[in-house]
Amino acid sequence: MARPTTIHVCSTCAQREPRWMGQCPGCGEWNTMVEERSAPVATAAGGGSRLRGSGGARPAAVTRLKDVDTSRAPRLKTGIGEVDRVLGGGLVAGSLVLLGGSPGIGKSTLTGMALGNLAAAGRDVLYVSGEESAQQIRLRHERLLTPSCAALDVPVLAETDLGTVLATIEAEKPDVVVIDSVQTLHAAELSGAPGSVGQVREVAARIMQVAKPSGTAVLLVGHVTKEGSLAGPRVLEHLVDCVLQFEGERERMYRTLRALKNRFGSTNEAGVFEMMSGGLVEVLDASARFVSEATRKPGSVVLAAMEGSRPLLVEVQALVSPSELVPPRRVVNGIDRNRLALVLAVLGRHAGVGVGTADVFVNVVGGVRVDEPGADLAIALAVASAQRGVALGSADGKLPAACFGEVGLTGELRTVAHADRRMDEARKFGLATVVSPARTPTLRAALKSVLAPGAAAGSGPDRTGETRRA
Ligand code: TYD
Ligand code: MG
Repeated sequence: MARPTTIHVCSTCAQREPRWMGQCPGCGEWNTMVEERSAPVATAAGGGSRLRGSGGARPAAVTRLKDVDTSRAPRLKTGIGEVDRVLGGGLVAGSLVLLGGSPGIGKSTLTGMALGNLAAAGRDVLYVSGEESAQQIRLRHERLLTPSCAALDVPVLAETDLGTVLATIEAEKPDVVVIDSVQTLHAAELSGAPGSVGQVREVAARIMQVAKPSGTAVLLVGHVTKEGSLAGPRVLEHLVDCVLQFEGERERMYRTLRALKNRFGSTNEAGVFEMMSGGLVEVLDASARFVSEATRKPGSVVLAAMEGSRPLLVEVQALVSPSELVPPRRVVNGIDRNRLALVLAVLGRHAGVGVGTADVFVNVVGGVRVDEPGADLAIALAVASAQRGVALGSADGKLPAACFGEVGLTGELRTVAHADRRMDEARKFGLATVVSPARTPTLRAALKSVLAPGAAAGSGPDRTGETRRA
């Protein structure tokens, strides 16, 4: 009987141990031992005789870059415009894509729709599910109403054993295979539970080995924790060609898909989706919706944000309310908590807006996340407006305001990327007054331009002339 063929390797110091240990005896770190298959390499069997230099390996031919063939890899269109755009034009044959997102966000729905579209376009596809039975998958696919989607023509394999999955991929040689999810497959050679770091790494590496030769594009689905870390799958980021992140909250309407890493395109792209009864629907007019839904009451401001290379208008809301708690609450949704702390500090120190011991809540409406410094000014204006109980408005009292800009530590407003596109988007939706670093150099001036006493009441033209009008 052969001995178990796995070893445990410390991911910090590479110490090798036959058994798993909580603490690495090599470096003393905790929880760093990861199970791996012990490769039957000659060096290990050599028992002490160390190889010298190249160890007799043959040299390979090297190529000048200008002689490298750059004929574009063909793209497999998923038929979901937003997905194709985020991928940089579609799936690249033979590539490995990791799709991360929290449970219930719509990963299975999105990948199922993509496979349905690909099947309708005559591609060979395969949907491997380690989570659901074939019946469950069928029930979901019956709901997918996308036109030109052959959702029920998708061949499925409900299986958790890695060996069986690999053999099936080898036999079927599909153009695209979805593994839903990478955490549920189990490599029998490793003793670790499915989803453990060792298992996830092994599963991904072996699938890649099998898929690459046949040019099969692989979409690995991975669950992420609420904190946003791809808990297990994070260890795959270096291995895969693209990392897509599906974000949003289950309870909210909107979800965004962005590329965190993309070897075949830009990571500046993002797509917005809405979960409907017939599957995920691309939201192409997200700005229009958010603007029309904006309350424009005290504490509400429209931010001209960037979702990748596209401008997106979103409503940022703030509430400032007296608190008995020490320290007071600072609750955020859709923005970084540290940015709020910074903006509050600058507001108090340089703009005369102190929130003192009040609770401050800031929310980006619709479950959208804005992770960019351009959101600072919106946070500042929303908080100031909420604190004063005055709605934002341009000085002539007619035109609603939009804003963007980074807030600097000395109270200045700093330029952010794509100012023109943000301006154009705001104007497109009738937000003629755009408060931006180009026109208002400081946060104090920005506040004055849209929060001046009587600004919303229509007290004539803005004296400072610091806001931009179309
Ligand atoms: P799912 O794709 O299973 O999420 P994940 O694979 O990321 O865990 O679907 C998430 C939710 O979406 C599920 O609770 C049901 C809902 N849903 C719809 O609202 N409409 C639909 O057409 C489908 C297929 C699902
Ligand atoms: Mg799922």
